[in-house]
Amino acid sequence: MKVAIIGGTGKMGRWFTKFFLDEGMQVIVSGRSKEKLLKIKGELGVEIADNVNAVKSADRVLISVSIENFENVVREIHSHIRPDQVVMDICSVKEFPVKVMHEYIKTGTTLGTHPMFGPRTENIQNQNFILTPTNNKERRFAKDFKGWLEEKQVNVSIMSPRKHDELMSAVLGLPHFIGTVVCDTLINCVDLAETKRVAGTSYKLLLKLAETVASQDPEFCASLQMNLPKVENVEGFFCEKSIEWLNTIKQKDKTAFADKMRVVKAKLGKIGASRSA
Ligand SMILES: NC(=O)c1ccc[n+]([C@@H]2O[C@H](COP(=O)([O-])OP(=O)(O)OC[C@H]3O[C@@H](n4cnc5c(N)ncnc54)[C@H](OP(=O)(O)O)[C@@H]3O)[C@@H](O)[C@H]2O)c1
Repeated sequence: MKVAIIGGTGKMGRWFTKFFLDEGMQVIVSGRSKEKLLKIKGELGVEIADNVNAVKSADRVLISVSIENFENVVREIHSHIRPDQVVMDICSVKEFPVKVMHEYIKTGTTLGTHPMFGPRTENIQNQNFILTPTNNKERRFAKDFKGWLEEKQVNVSIMSPRKHDELMSAVLGLPHFIGTVVCDTLINCVDLAETKRVAGTSYKLLLKLAETVASQDPEFCASLQMNLPKVENVEGFFCEKSIEWLNTIKQKDKTAFADKMRVVKAKLGKIGASRSA
């Protein structure tokens, strides 16, 4: 089995290159920068090529470029895809890339996927992986791919691209948004080093979120916020809720605050209970 990784010189592309090599597969990497291609060839001993030649020589194709570059790549390679080939993408949004693949790739099988982990992940075991097949051919391949991942103890979910993007507004967009705003708040209103020395459990959790988000690639974070279709609704609602809670505090209405908190706790408890039932 030979896999072509388009954008294999990037963070996730490099991760998947190592992963497939460890699985005993052949990997051919393409990317924009000759320098980065030569570097990965030197480090991992993989074949390198331009996008079209990588596609031509592979059984499977994994597109690992940013959403902004995705359509250009598909436009470049689509006429070289053979009927026996599978083309997968790993974009963090799914409706747009799946639509683009369907629009251009008329031969072969396509599949939208989203690994729910980043390039620093050391072990795929217990990681979440989402597959978004939309027709019978894709569903058949997704079933096989799911089985292969599950043999490696990966948690695989199958859903529509739309459902994926709705969920990601909360699962990725909101924590990134909160983490970024928390960073911006803390660096502007407290002495971070001083607060760290006296941190309790909840502050340590908050800092962990802020630092995790701050360690991400700003281009990737910006791309997520600009491309998740429902993210503004979720984040807008969060801002409205923040104002609502802040107003209760400004009014010094202790009873209202505690009552609101009891309602939230009870609802959260019910959700937790129904999940564990
Ligand atoms: N980072 C994460 O935590 C994460 C997690 C899950 C999924 N994803 C998804 O994975 C994808 C890649 O993310 P990443 O973080 O690996 O980004 P990245 O580090 O910027 O890598 C993208 C790679 O694509 C290459 N590229 C861009 N246009 C190209 C073209 N026309 N032909 C060939 N190669 C091209 C880039 O080359 P240059 O270096 O020359 O620009 C770069 O090497 C994104 O769609 C992202 O949403 C990311």
